[in-house]
Amino acid sequence: MKLENKVIIVTGAGSGIGRATSLKLASEGAIVVSSDYNEVTAKETAEMIQKAGGQASYVRADVSKPEDIQHLIDKTVEVHGTLDGLFNNAGVGDVRSFEEHTPDYYNHVVSVDQFGVYLGIYYGSKKMKELGVKGIIINTASIFGYMAAKGSFAYQAAKAAVVMMTKSAALELADDGIRVIAVAPGFIDTPIIKDGDDFKSFLADQHLSKKLIQPEQIADVVSFLFTGEASAINGQTIPVDDGFLIFKRS
Ligand SMILES: NC(=O)c1ccc[n+]([C@@H]2O[C@H](COP(=O)([O-])OP(=O)(O)OC[C@H]3O[C@@H](n4cnc5c(N)ncnc54)[C@H](O)[C@@H]3O)[C@@H](O)[C@H]2O)c1
Repeated sequence: MKLENKVIIVTGAGSGIGRATSLKLASEGAIVVSSDYNEVTAKETAEMIQKAGGQASYVRADVSKPEDIQHLIDKTVEVHGTLDGLFNNAGVGDVRSFEEHTPDYYNHVVSVDQFGVYLGIYYGSKKMKELGVKGIIINTASIFGYMAAKGSFAYQAAKAAVVMMTKSAALELADDGIRVIAVAPGFIDTPIIKDGDDFKSFLADQHLSKKLIQPEQIADVVSFLFTGEASAINGQTIPVDDGFLIFKRS
């Protein structure tokens, strides 16, 4: 139990990486606040944790709305007494041509994947400072924060910003003892990858193992980053990409 009674918020907790991470953190003893803009799935994750004997509550929040994030953080402290960690994980993305990147679409993606992470860092760190907690904030970036591929213009802009915000925030918050880290997943077998089996097997082939990464494999790394064992990691984005970023495609 490496996270006993640590109060940790997970956004995007109703599915994929967020759900797997919520379950893993709870299995390490954390009190998890499962948050998603889908209230039904956020509640389901909290119930899954409780059924397994863990501690959890849930709060509906749209990460792109400042008032929702403020409420999420205030509610967490009201119910659980403190805030030790925050996993800014909620995200949207799909594959569409540059022509289909209308201003409205671009704004939508960036408001969740970039502005949403900023809001978590901003309000989360403010509360940690108020409480005098030396907390940990972890953001979900992506391999597409580092390299470009056709069809994900807005997503890549947002994820590159997450990589940079992680560095800047670590610098801004170091004097308060708050660490800020990110993970950059490769292709993970979650509902965000909506296309059919052929596309999935194409994505799997981009990894050294030739398999899609499972959400639990990201959860293990995030859980480790929340522990004291990762105390010398700060401001970095850790690729969890099964080798995706290391080699040139032929
Ligand atoms: N799956 C991948 O291949 C992959 C790769 C790299 C990075 N990521 C990132 O991982 C994170 C989690 O994605 P996933 O693969 O688990 O996808 P997912 O679709 O399974 O989960 C995303 C969750 O975020 C929630 N969400 C979406 N918009 C929201 C909003 N405005 N406010 C609150 N919640 C919102 C959804 O309801 C959903 O539960 C995202 O940031 C995504 O960009 C995923």
